[in-house]
Parts: sequence; structure tokens; C-alpha cells
Amino acid sequence: MEKKNTVLSLVQPSGNLTIGNYLGAMKNFVDLQDEYDCYFGVADLHSITVPQVPKDLRRRTKEVVALYLAIGLDPEKVSVFVQSHVEEHLKLYWVLNSISYMGQLSRMTQFKDKSQKNEENLNAALFTYPTLMAADILLYNSDYVPVGEDQRQHLELARDLADRFNHRYSDTFQVPEPLIIKSTSKIMSLRNPDAKMSKSDVDVNASIYILDPPEVILKKVKGAVTDSLANFDYNDEQKGLRNLIDIYCAFEKVSPEEVVEKYKGESYAKFKEDLAQIIITEMSQIQEKYNEFISNTQLLDTILENGRDRARNKAYRMIDKVYRKVGFYQLGKK
Ligand code: TYM
Repeated sequence: MEKKNTVLSLVQPSGNLTIGNYLGAMKNFVDLQDEYDCYFGVADLHSITVPQVPKDLRRRTKEVVALYLAIGLDPEKVSVFVQSHVEEHLKLYWVLNSISYMGQLSRMTQFKDKSQKNEENLNAALFTYPTLMAADILLYNSDYVPVGEDQRQHLELARDLADRFNHRYSDTFQVPEPLIIKSTSKIMSLRNPDAKMSKSDVDVNASIYILDPPEVILKKVKGAVTDSLANFDYNDEQKGLRNLIDIYCAFEKVSPEEVVEKYKGESYAKFKEDLAQIIITEMSQIQEKYNEFISNTQLLDTILENGRDRARNKAYRMIDKVYRKVGFYQLGKK
């Protein structure tokens, strides 16, 4: 049998997941699960780079797992795991720290943004967060990493670290490729079309959460910032409208041209109502399944145990290899 290529991606349990997370990353996971050897994780280790309430972190971790299942990930086909359950991530992280350059880490735009918000007490983990992300990816020899545009720079770092390690020691890591689907890779805030939709945005009206009830989705879409041109078009000047059209296209699998054709001459209000209904229909289906999974802790734990075992089975071999290459003394080996 031909060996399948490996796909890996993680999502942080650091807030309520948005349709940005869904369209930019998670929906694509589902499309990849049949063809690839897939590892989809919950990045709880990453989350503590910003302060978390412990009981919320635990609850959200479970929520992400239930959502993975609700959107259609099949635990028979893919390994669903929690990052902190696979300690090899931390082992590789340490080794990769030794070849991560401070200069490159300090140029990471996410670090720059987040550190501006938290200048008082900058923690070291926030600084080396991209190295941990590289460890997540390289640990499994991942070929492809489906993510949104905001993770591109981190992916570049993972590629650099793979190359650097391979050169310094010998060929060890697969150099991973980002899988970024342009049309959905950057869903913007509904309140400010120049900023990305983010689960950590303090303005709850800026994002549609996957678990938002129908009336909330309708209200948020209606309140989305557009413009006063009253011209239904898809262009760089009408960023708010363009973002809504991108969302429409992602759900309906149509092109912006088709949407413009359909709504030319219509009011923005009519388009917004239709868009809201489209989002509500898909989210309601997800929510129905989510509610079944979230109340079944036993099932979630079994899935996570299997996922952990499958992940560790691959991860420990890589750590063994890496430790040997860097020169750590291993008992019983030459
Ligand atoms: P996180 O948790 O912020 O986001 C999860 C995924 O959603 C994508 N995303 C978006 N896509 C389109 N439009 C948006 N507005 C939007 N907002 C978020 C993100 O790009 C991401 O794919 N560091 C990662 C988690 C991580 C990871 C990894 C990812 C840890 N280790 C290894 C891939 C491989 C993060 O914080 O994603």
C-alpha cells in the first residue's frame, strides 16, 4: 500500500471559535481526512502564553474536541489529540529552541502584536511560541499544514528550523508546506474590515462564533460594517462588503462574480439576510452534533486516548532519532 502523506494542524482553546477558524482552517481538515494521515490537535500548551482561567481552559479544550467531531472529523480516520498529552512536543521544542535565533523570533508579527498588548509582563513562552509550533509540525514529519494566512510566517520558521537542523546534523525532518486557501485564509472582523476576525477580540460583535444561536448570527451579520456607496460590488474599496461576499462564497461554494451577478441592484440588507440564513443553516447542523458530543465525556476521552496513543506512537520515534542526532547519551545504544 502506498504511504499516505501527513497532514497536521492545531487550534488553540483560547476563546470561542469563530467562523474565521472554521472557514480558514477547520473546514479544510474535513476535506483532507480521507486522503492523508491526519493529526488534528488542541494546542493547550500554546494557550498559556497569554493568561487563562484554568477551569475555562479545561472546558474549552473539550469544546474544541467536540467541535472537531461536530464538523465531521472521523476519529477512526484521523488522530484527534490534546497537545499536552503528548509530551514529545515539549522535548522537541527544547531541542529546536537551541537552533532558534532570537532575531528571527523577534520579527514574528504575532509576537509583536501580542507583546504590544502586554508590555508590562512579557513572558518568555510568548516569545518562543513559534518554536513550539515548529515542534508540533516537525514531530510528525508533516508534509502539509492547513492554516489561515496569519500562521504563514510561523510556517516559514518551521521550514527554516527543519532546514537548519537537517544541515547541522543530517537529514531528519520533512520540510513542511503550508496549505493556505486564499479565498478563506483571512476572514475579517465584522466591525473593522482591516482587522482579522479573532476569537480573542473583546468586541463580541466583531466575530460570529460557531456556537452562536441563530438570532445572534442574524443580528451580527445585519450589524456588519459595510459602506454608504449603495453599490453591490466586489472590490478593494468596499472591504466590509467584500469580506461578507468572501464568507458567502465559502459557504455556498460559488465565486464572487456569481454573487455580484445575483445581488446587483439589490440592497445590502437583502444580501445580509440571505447570508445570515446560510450561516445559520450550517452552524445549526454543527451545533446539533456538538451538543451530542459535548455531553458525552466518556466518548470524548476515549477518542482522545486513542488519538494520544496514535500520536505518541509516531512522536516517540522522532524524539529517539533527534536525541541520537544531537548527541544525547542513550542507554543500551552505541
Ligand atoms: P488559532 O487557534 O489562532 O487559529 C486556528 C486556525 O484558524 C485560523 N484562523 C483564521 N483563518 C481565517 N480567517 C481568520 N480570521 C482566522 N483566524 C484564525 C488560523 O490560521 C489557524 O489555522 N498557532 C496556531 C495553533 C497551532 C498550530 C500548530 C497550527 C499550534 N501549533 C501547528 C498549525 C500547526 C494558532 O494560534 O491558531
